[in-house]
Amino acid sequence: MVFRLVLLPGDGIGPEVVGAAVTVLQRIERRFGHQFDTQSFPIGGVALASGDGPLPAATREACLAADAVLLGAVGDARFDSGPRDRKPETGLLELRRALGVYANLRPARVWPSLEDSGPLKRERVAATDILIVRELTGGLYFGEPRGIAADGRSAVNTLQYCVEEIERVADVAFDAARKRRARVTSVDKANVLETSQLWRTTVSRLALRYPDVKLDHMYVDACAMALALDPPRFDVIVTENLFGDILSDEAGAIVGSLGLLPSASIGGGHGLYEPVHGSAPDLAGRDVANPIGTILSAAMLLRHSLRLEDEARAIERAVGEILAEGHRTADLRSDPSVPVIGCAEMAHLIAERC
Ligand code: IPM
Ligand code: MG
Repeated sequence: MVFRLVLLPGDGIGPEVVGAAVTVLQRIERRFGHQFDTQSFPIGGVALASGDGPLPAATREACLAADAVLLGAVGDARFDSGPRDRKPETGLLELRRALGVYANLRPARVWPSLEDSGPLKRERVAATDILIVRELTGGLYFGEPRGIAADGRSAVNTLQYCVEEIERVADVAFDAARKRRARVTSVDKANVLETSQLWRTTVSRLALRYPDVKLDHMYVDACAMALALDPPRFDVIVTENLFGDILSDEAGAIVGSLGLLPSASIGGGHGLYEPVHGSAPDLAGRDVANPIGTILSAAMLLRHSLRLEDEARAIERAVGEILAEGHRTADLRSDPSVPVIGCAEMAHLIAERC
């Protein structure tokens, strides 16, 4: 089969980790007899530096026409103090919105061979396997009105959700739970926020359609603590945009490194795949970044957008084996006597094993 993939390497370590994922995808092409036609386009700081906006029209059109999109990272300190329409992050947010990808799946599992890599004790994290389902196209990230007052002395953002937005992402979470351990934790701040009260009643009502899935609710502050104290208790977490952003970085610490976490943004007929980590400018261009989050994002792309389940599993199995054999990028090293490998070498080892 022939598939059209758009690559958006973006900023910082983005080009290196996307290059690593391409190494693995090329191996999958050969082994399974597919053809992935890839084309790269600028987004974020790279696009801004060339005089364009953060999401050039050609990039947007290519993404809308593709079978799936794989993105590295956006973020560039040169544009931090500029207006919102001149920020790299705005390119990514516009793209999510244009593609209508309202459900962001962020799986976070502790690989058996990495139980000692993170800051938490092995007994605490072992067997952790969480799927965070983050609402991605609503909430504070997009609500209007927003802005900084003309005198620079006040600013406003708007948190608004409607029932349909909550139901469609909760549906994704319940469906995902059915293929896992059939538990959903809905995370909100219903003791303070009206949007969270609507979130909670809507998710509870929807749960009646999923009698085989066990639903519980948690406040986001309590969830942040429970994630650190007892991560294995969670199966699927569903939450709004900003809470999901924050909790998924915490999940990165729990599994040992943010560099391990992939994500899939789905819904609305399109698929956008990106690692959870950012552009990490301090690591850029040095071949030290961990490519596993992006390689696993490519596996999610194969599964969710191209329906190539065996191929996705081949990548995930290869990652597990390479880690089990002790290969480590710098972020994963728990024992200073263990030598570390670079981004490209990690990619080659995983590709050869697929
Ligand atoms: C993420 C990132 C983005 C977000 C930024 C880069 C806009 O932190 O994907 O988690 O906040 O969604
Ligand atoms: Mg984030």
